[in-house]
Amino acid sequence: MIIGMFDSGVGGLSVLRALRWQLPAQPILYLADQAHVPYGPRPLEEVRAFSVEITRFLLRQGARCIVVACNTASAAALHHLRATFPDVPFVGMEPAVKPAAESTHSGVVGVLATPATFQGELYASVVERFASGVTLLQDTCPGLVGQIEAGDLNGPRTRAILAAALNPMLAQGMDTVVMGCTHYPFVIPLIQEITGTGVRVIDPAPAVARQTGRVLAARGWLAPPGPPAPVRFFTTGQAEPFAGQIARLLDGELPPLASDMIEVVHWKDQHLE
Ligand code: DGL
Repeated sequence: MIIGMFDSGVGGLSVLRALRWQLPAQPILYLADQAHVPYGPRPLEEVRAFSVEITRFLLRQGARCIVVACNTASAAALHHLRATFPDVPFVGMEPAVKPAAESTHSGVVGVLATPATFQGELYASVVERFASGVTLLQDTCPGLVGQIEAGDLNGPRTRAILAAALNPMLAQGMDTVVMGCTHYPFVIPLIQEITGTGVRVIDPAPAVARQTGRVLAARGWLAPPGPPAPVRFFTTGQAEPFAGQIARLLDGELPPLASDMIEVVHWKDQHLE
């Protein structure tokens, strides 16, 4: 059965990468809503409306299970999506506060996520359930999603944004940092340069891929082992730059993509066509 995935842009590719490692034979549709990136500073209601319409689109294209490969959209819309599409299994992202709280020695954990993710009930509930006794330090890394969309994974501006977030956390004794936005795993090498290897960086993508596998297996929807299945890419932005982003970010993990393999879809009157 086909998995549909979406994000505001290239962030969900960090989840796609984990899914391909674990379930290579599962066909995937990936939609990047680049007409609206970044989602993080937008009101939750607006991101919820985008998420409903993108889900409808992916279901029309044949997806049976939806992976919300975006923390912001999960914070804004996951409950609403499950209520709106009760027959569709959804897998969402939640900041990995639980594994961080379990593994920290210093008791100080950093969380990097978008403003919308920090405002959502999902984050509040994770903090309430798992973070008692732990000091959580939060930062929204303003501008970082844009830098990653622009392909700047280690230039001076990207480094400055991360240093501004991480240095105060390090000064307070942080030993674990959570990637609470699916774009951020692409700058883990830079994050580790700033923090040193003594700080553990938690990328939830492998756990989300495992959860997707469990959800599919429970319904008998796992593809039998076989050659890698195709991935169909959609963007609400432009095909050529998106093909370049995929090639750079997933270097060697997918066959090279021509931009004519990317399908462009347009928002019209709040619907996708
Ligand atoms: N990658 C997304 C997330 O996980 C969205 C970032 C954004 O568009 O602001 O939150």
